[in-house]
Amino acid sequence: MKATVTAHRDFTIAAIDERIYSAFLEHLGRAVYTGIHEPDHPTADANGMRGDVAELVRELDIPFVRYPGGNFVSAYNWEDGIGPVEQRPVRLDLAWHTSESNRVGIHEFMAWCDTVNTRPMLAINLGSRGLDQARNFVEYVNGPLGSYWGDLRKKNGRAEPWNCRLWCLGNEMDGPWQIGHKTAEEYGRLANETAKALRAFDKGLELVVCGSSNSDMKTYPEWERIVLEHTYEAVDHISLHMYFANRDGDTQTYLSLNHKLDRYIATVAAAIRLVKANKRSKRDVHISFDEWNVWYHSNAEDRAVLEGNAGWPHAPRLLEDIYIFEDVLQVGCILNTFIRRSDVVKIACIAQLVNVIAPIMTEPGGPAWRQTIYYPYYFASRHGRGTALNLSVSCPGYDSIHDDNVPWLDIAGVHDEAARTLTFFAINRHAAESLQTEIALQGFGAARVTEHKVMTHENLRARNTLADPDAVVPRDGAGARVADGLLTVTLPPHSWQMIRVT
Ligand code: AHR
Repeated sequence: MKATVTAHRDFTIAAIDERIYSAFLEHLGRAVYTGIHEPDHPTADANGMRGDVAELVRELDIPFVRYPGGNFVSAYNWEDGIGPVEQRPVRLDLAWHTSESNRVGIHEFMAWCDTVNTRPMLAINLGSRGLDQARNFVEYVNGPLGSYWGDLRKKNGRAEPWNCRLWCLGNEMDGPWQIGHKTAEEYGRLANETAKALRAFDKGLELVVCGSSNSDMKTYPEWERIVLEHTYEAVDHISLHMYFANRDGDTQTYLSLNHKLDRYIATVAAAIRLVKANKRSKRDVHISFDEWNVWYHSNAEDRAVLEGNAGWPHAPRLLEDIYIFEDVLQVGCILNTFIRRSDVVKIACIAQLVNVIAPIMTEPGGPAWRQTIYYPYYFASRHGRGTALNLSVSCPGYDSIHDDNVPWLDIAGVHDEAARTLTFFAINRHAAESLQTEIALQGFGAARVTEHKVMTHENLRARNTLADPDAVVPRDGAGARVADGLLTVTLPPHSWQMIRVT
């Protein structure tokens, strides 16, 4: 089968905001405890943080990490996580039916951000709590010395304000499962008043208001419109979440889900524009897609803990999806969608980062390893920075319940002008046929292929595990070449590739 693509230097979508390669870390399962934090681990640093995990996180070059939740944040008291560790209270975490030791709190998380070269995106509890604790938290993190919260921070070991710029006003407040769930009207008012208070403290903070938890919510997309009617002038981003699953074992349908994602983004972008027009506003609000990933492999195992039949365990194995090769293709398609919607999506967070629906897995006391999905995320984060190209793509496709005529080829192109490099991320969705792909390179000057990585596997269900951590890894591709401004490459069935041209 044949696919033809045209990339023109001047035919662009937008500058890609590097924050679309951010991640999410929640106090959930083993994400924190025995994930990033394990004082007895042979690689632990003075703060009890695992060095092997930190190394893998650094390798991903993650711009921001959203923390501490998720559903967890909606009943979280941030003050429980400050002061001497041995005096911190153990609390029942109502979101995940577990115990929270609070051995990791804001000080430990901020120090870890420095260790792994990332920056914090902090979430505020607007479920069980409200405006007052929100402003106290922000003042504790960013406030000057000589004030109550600034001085308390100093007493707890940190004199200098952390100056965290990015704050989430609650989490999934449209979800009936959320502690402190609200209607769009209730939440919109609270979020606006909270945003006003935070802006009174520091006008320059970047604020994220909650959009829908997914596009199947009954309140979507009215939720977005109403919440934005309340908050438009006070916030910078509206957050969206989406998780992907292949419960019926139907790969073709599964791999068309990013078309549903694309529609979700387009609809919310339209809601933003509608409210902007209603308000006669000059400012723009963007999308923060701050939770996305594949999530379904572990659902059955999690039931006992989530239904409360296991008591209140501390850091149990929860949401530990072991990803398969098929998920590489899915994650590649999702990341391509964010690149193609870089005009409106300015932040996106893979959910999550370690152990919990995560690219990185750990064994307590043992090694850390890369799941299959680590690789498309790694290459996009490393090489998907620059300007998103508006590619013209011609390729046969198929009809699915999510969209008609889904092309077998999913492709995104990024032009890094400074490095004079073009990077293409391409997925062949076809199970049996190769795609003979021709990409016309217009306006880029002479070029040659400098890097070509391929991920394929004869078994869609192949996984990386403790026993076999390298069952699914990228390999160097062969045969891609540029001649007379035409890049030709063969994409094998069910494959992901990255082709770089300089
Ligand atoms: O990432 C797991 C959970 O998914 C988060 O806690 C919540 O925000 C979402 O429903």
